[in-house]
Amino acid sequence: METVLSGIRSTGQLHLGNYYGALKNFVKMQHDARCYFFIADYHSLTTHPDPSALHGNVRNALAEYLAAGLDPNVATIYVQSDVPQVAELSLLLSMHAYVGELERTVSFKDKIRKHPENVNAGLLTYPVLMAADILMHRATRVPVGKDQEQHLEMTRKFARRFNSIYGVDYFPESLPYNFGNDLVKVPGLDGSGKMGKSEGNGIYLVDSDKEISKKVMKAVSDGGPTEPHQVMADPIQNLFSIMSIVSTPDTYSYFMDKYNSCEIRYGDMKKQIAADMISVISPIRERIVEIKSNDKYINEVVADGASKARESANATIKDVREIMGIKSF
Ligand code: TYM
Repeated sequence: METVLSGIRSTGQLHLGNYYGALKNFVKMQHDARCYFFIADYHSLTTHPDPSALHGNVRNALAEYLAAGLDPNVATIYVQSDVPQVAELSLLLSMHAYVGELERTVSFKDKIRKHPENVNAGLLTYPVLMAADILMHRATRVPVGKDQEQHLEMTRKFARRFNSIYGVDYFPESLPYNFGNDLVKVPGLDGSGKMGKSEGNGIYLVDSDKEISKKVMKAVSDGGPTEPHQVMADPIQNLFSIMSIVSTPDTYSYFMDKYNSCEIRYGDMKKQIAADMISVISPIRERIVEIKSNDKYINEVVADGASKARESANATIKDVREIMGIKSF
C-alpha cells in the first residue's frame, strides 16, 4: 500500500493554489492509501509570526482542511510541532545535507532576494525539515504544487544518500503527485507569477461570493487580441490557466475559440471564472464556519492525529538511530 503525505504551512489562510496544488489531490486519495496530512507550523516560524497569532492560525488551517474534505476517520491529520521527532530526524538528516546544495535551492535564493534582512538558518535548512516530514512516514507519494518540485527532488537525494552511506534500503523514493497529471501552478490574478500567501494576490477559501467576484473582475488583462491566434500576454495566459483549473473543458475551449477569433470579451470570461470559483468555494466556506464553531471536534481530531503520527514517527526514529549507530545505555 502507498503511503501518502502532504502538508501546508500555517501562515495565513488557504487559497486556491493550496487547494488545487495539494489539498484536492490528497482528498481524492485519502481512501485508497495510508495517508498523513499535517500543518507545518515549525516551517512557518522562518518568517517569525506573532506568537499570539500562531495557535489561531493553526486552528484556522485545521478547520479549512477539514472543510475542504479531509476525513479524520481515514487520514492522520496532525500538527507538525505535536510530533517533535521530526526535529530530531531533521537534525540527523542535516549531517548529510551540504551547505552548497542548500544555498542553491530556488526557494532559498528567492527568500534572500525578497527578504535580505531575514536570512536565518531555518530558511537554509527548510528543505531538510521538509524531507524529515516526508521520510518520517516513509511516504511514497506527496501531493504538492509545482513550486515544491525541487524540495521533493532534494528529499529523494537525501534519502538515496542516507541509504547509500549506511548501506541500507530504508527510505523510499518520495514522488510529487497530482493524480496522474502534471503538477499544478495556480497563477495569481495580478498578471504575474503564482498565487501565494505572501504575494497578496489570492482567492481564499473563506472569501465571500462578492469578494471573489470583485477580485476576479479586477484581474489584470489587456486590450484584447487584434489578429487571429495572437500570442498571449502573460496576464491573459494566467486567466486561461485559472479557467483550465476551475471551469469545464467545454467552457475553456469556448473562450479559447473566442480569443483566437478576436471576439473575446474579458468581462464575460471573468464573470464565468468567478461563477465557477464560487461554486467550488462557497460550500467549503459554509463548512469552515460550521467547523470553526466546534472546538471540541477540532481538539479531538488533533489529539487523535498526534498520537497516530507519533507512533509512526517513533518507529522511524528508532530505526534511524540504530542505523546511524546511536544506542541507548
Ligand atoms: P505552502 O504552505 O506554501 O503551500 C502548500 C501547498 O500548496 C501548494 N501551492 C500551490 N500549488 C499550485 N499553485 C499555487 N499557486 C500554489 N501555492 C501553493 C504548494 O505547492 C504546497 O503543496 N514547504 C511546504 C509545506 C511543507 C510540506 C512538507 C509539503 C512542509 N513540509 C512536506 C509537503 C510535504 C509549503 O511551504 O507549502
